[in-house]
Amino acid sequence: MKWIETASYEEMSKMAADLFINHIKNNSKSVIGLATGGTPEGFYKELVKSYTSRKVSYARTVSFNLDEYVGVTAESEASYHHYMKKRLFNYIDIKRENIYLPNGDTPNLEKAAREYERQIEESGGIDIQLLGIGTNGHIGFNEPGSSFENTTHVVELTASTREANKVYFERLEDVPKHAITMGIKTIMQSKKIILLLSGASKREAYDRLRTGEVTEQFPASALHLHSDVTVIYTGVK
Ligand code: F6R
Repeated sequence: MKWIETASYEEMSKMAADLFINHIKNNSKSVIGLATGGTPEGFYKELVKSYTSRKVSYARTVSFNLDEYVGVTAESEASYHHYMKKRLFNYIDIKRENIYLPNGDTPNLEKAAREYERQIEESGGIDIQLLGIGTNGHIGFNEPGSSFENTTHVVELTASTREANKVYFERLEDVPKHAITMGIKTIMQSKKIILLLSGASKREAYDRLRTGEVTEQFPASALHLHSDVTVIYTGVK
């Protein structure tokens, strides 16, 4: 695991964005993995800038998001579909048919999960995956205790994750109780992984990841078993 500390949030975002942009520029087709949340907002601004300044085209990029809430329609403002459109997809030339997020708005979630794995596989697998990290060490919505063998599946969100995500909802009661997420195994199959970690609230997660201990009680620790992970972090101390 490679660790890079940056002087600011903006620098962290730019560094991560450049890794993705260079990958897209240097390959005839790219499959990228994306995350939502507060941490990657600056990253998305950089990707939008890269397109508006004509530095890169996303016309041959395929994207897969980590997760989506269950029981929330793609059109709902609380959905990750909406988050992604508002921050990235509406402003770049990625083809709509090349955008994938797990489908949490279906009665058959098991089938949707299998379908998502199949779509990732058919695309040739994720070349470069962006991750954030929860204060409890979750990646995607893989909460402490998740098996490292899980592929895309439905999870019950912990109280701490629902609390952290309530900023996107009017009331805590509105935060969905379940989500559909790539599993740790799915994430680990990405060829390259970039984890962003920013701010003092992530200090404990940073310290724990730094120890190198691998345990299902701290999901991000699975990344120690991957051969190409870069953690770009800022403002943890
Ligand atoms: C989001 C996701 C989550 C977040 C994590 C950190 O798609 O998969 O694992 O990356 O909850 O969220 P922020 O960045 O809001 O602190």
